[in-house]
This record gives sequence, C-alpha cells and structure tokens, in this order.
Amino acid sequence: MLVALTGTPGTGKSSVADTLGRRGFSIIDLNSLAHGLGLFKGYDEARKCWLYDLEAISEHVAAIKVEESSDRATILEGLVSHLLPVDLIIVLRCRPSILEGRLRAKGYDKEKIRENLEAEALNILSQESHDEGEAYEIDTTYMNIEEVADSVEHIIRGDGAKYRKRLDFLEDVMSWY
Ligand SMILES: Nc1ncnc2c1ncn2[C@@H]1O[C@H](COP(=O)(O)OP(=O)(O)O)[C@@H](O)[C@H]1O
Ligand SMILES: [Mg+2]
Repeated sequence: MLVALTGTPGTGKSSVADTLGRRGFSIIDLNSLAHGLGLFKGYDEARKCWLYDLEAISEHVAAIKVEESSDRATILEGLVSHLLPVDLIIVLRCRPSILEGRLRAKGYDKEKIRENLEAEALNILSQESHDEGEAYEIDTTYMNIEEVADSVEHIIRGDGAKYRKRLDFLEDVMSWY
C-alpha cells in the first residue's frame, strides 16, 4: 500500500516521516528522490523553487507499487505526494498562527512564510487531496510529532474514521485584512 503524506511546508511531514521510519515503515522522501534523479521540469525563478516533473515521478512510484507486497505500507513524503498514484492520502494541517513559528524555525524568509501561511489558510493542499482520492486530515497544531505519527499509524491500519474530514483555517487569516 502506498500512502501519501502531504501538507504545507512546516506542517511536519519530514519530522513525522523520520519518526515513522524509526518505527519500521519504509519512507520515500520525494524531494530527495526528485533531486537524486533530476525529476524536474525546470526552476521557477520568481518563486525560487524547483518544478517537479510529476509524470516522471509517477512512473517511478508506479514501479515501486508493483514491487511492494500489499500488506506493507510505504509512505511517500512530500508536497506533491497526493498528486501521485497512491492508495490513500494523509494531509498534515497546522493553524497558520502556529505554523508561522515552525516556518521561522526552518529559516524561511518573510515572503515564503506569508505564501505558505496563505496556502494553509486557503486549505489548498486539503482541497487538492480530497479532489484526488481518499484523503484524511490531521490537525497537528497542538500535537507533538510522536502523537502525529500515532495518528498516521491509526489511519494506515484502517482505524482513521475520525480523520476523514476537512479542516478549515480560512478564518485565521481573515483577521489580517
Ligand atoms: N507537531 C509538531 N509540533 C511542534 N513542532 C513541530 C511539529 N511538527 C513539526 N514541527 C517543527 O516544525 C518545523 C518544520 O517541520 P518539518 O518536519 O520540516 O515540516 P515539513 O517537512 O512539512 O516542511 C521543524 O522545526 C519541526 O521540528
Ligand atoms: Mg520536509
């Protein structure tokens, strides 16, 4: 089974994936995969980021899926994981007011922080994920990384009904305007 672990930068994808890796799950870090194999379409100068070649990454992931036995979960961690041929999608969410501190800790500049807080408040990855397939959302705002990893495990085991929902953080940024 292939599981997408997606979310706005700073929601904890890499931290949670590290923890799940220590717990024995196989983890594929899409960012490293794409950089390792050069699976990009180009570089966006204005937004200062690489543009993933989703088709090439999907082909790669489909090959992994064939190799995988069905009783094991492999977690694809990354910002575009929900756009790949996966069996289920887990979206990590975080209230913008708290996400800001996490993005600062990552060393993001003011502009990048603003862009990501807006993306989280507008529920963009959530919307995309629910459009793509079976999506679950975990509100990590007041959880620690171990607790988030526990929730991911529950969902993978088929015990995640309470995460089958859409969170909405739009109100959090309305106060900015
Ligand atoms: N649940 C959490 N509680 C507190 N801090 C967190 C949590 N998840 C992530 N962080 C912190 O936020 C920052 C960004 O986390 P990271 O795993 O790099 O996110 P992502 O991979 O989604 O961009 C890191 O400093 C991390 O320690
Ligand atoms: Mg990361």
